[in-house]
Amino acid sequence: MNPESFNELARNRRSTFPDQFAEGSPVDDAIVQEIVTNALWAPNHGKAEPWHFTIFSGEGLKTLSTWQSELYKETTPDNFKEATYLKLQKQPLQASHVIALCMKKTPNKNIPEWEDLAAMGAAVQNIYLGVTAYGLGGYWTSGGVTSREKAKEYFNLGPDDKLMGFFLLGHVAIPSTGAKRQPFDEKVTWVRS
Ligand SMILES: Cc1cc2nc3c(=O)[nH]c(=O)nc-3n(C[C@H](O)[C@H](O)[C@H](O)COP(=O)(O)O)c2cc1C
Repeated sequence: MNPESFNELARNRRSTFPDQFAEGSPVDDAIVQEIVTNALWAPNHGKAEPWHFTIFSGEGLKTLSTWQSELYKETTPDNFKEATYLKLQKQPLQASHVIALCMKKTPNKNIPEWEDLAAMGAAVQNIYLGVTAYGLGGYWTSGGVTSREKAKEYFNLGPDDKLMGFFLLGHVAIPSTGAKRQPFDEKVTWVRS
């Protein structure tokens, strides 16, 4: 690793969505274990390590597909959309692995929630970078049943914990293109004196 290769990794990391995955070619569990191990090494305040990851693979993806689509149906009495139901069924089956991203609030009262959430963001960025380094693709989704209170039960989360969505990953069939960022000077200010 040299600085230039890290710069390239950080800047060329892109979200890759399930329709872009090469279906039916699973990533080795050992690689996913390495990628998630990187998440465990993310910075976190007070040694809280405020995360738990549940990894769905193989037949587990069918379990996720059924569970999340049925939970969506059950908890959407008014605004139910068939397209969303079908998407929640389909997406896990397009992925090689899906990682549920759970924040476990540290009991340390001196550490506010935002710090645990920020640590989760750092952990997921490590997942993103690892996925990119292994030549794979993936994306973080906060949609679907993420915000449903009932989804927390499935992952044994308490009232102060949070389900922060899912990271879907797989081999890439169609790479992402066309990413843009605002210029440096628009987003950054120096203080030099
Ligand atoms: C906290 C968070 C939640 C996200 N949730 C979604 C989502 O629900 N659906 C989606 O399509 N993309 C989601 N994304 C991915 C963004 O769409 C993606 O990062 C953005 O388009 C920038 O593209 P890039 O990751 O290739 O730089 C999420 C990203 C973050 C950081």
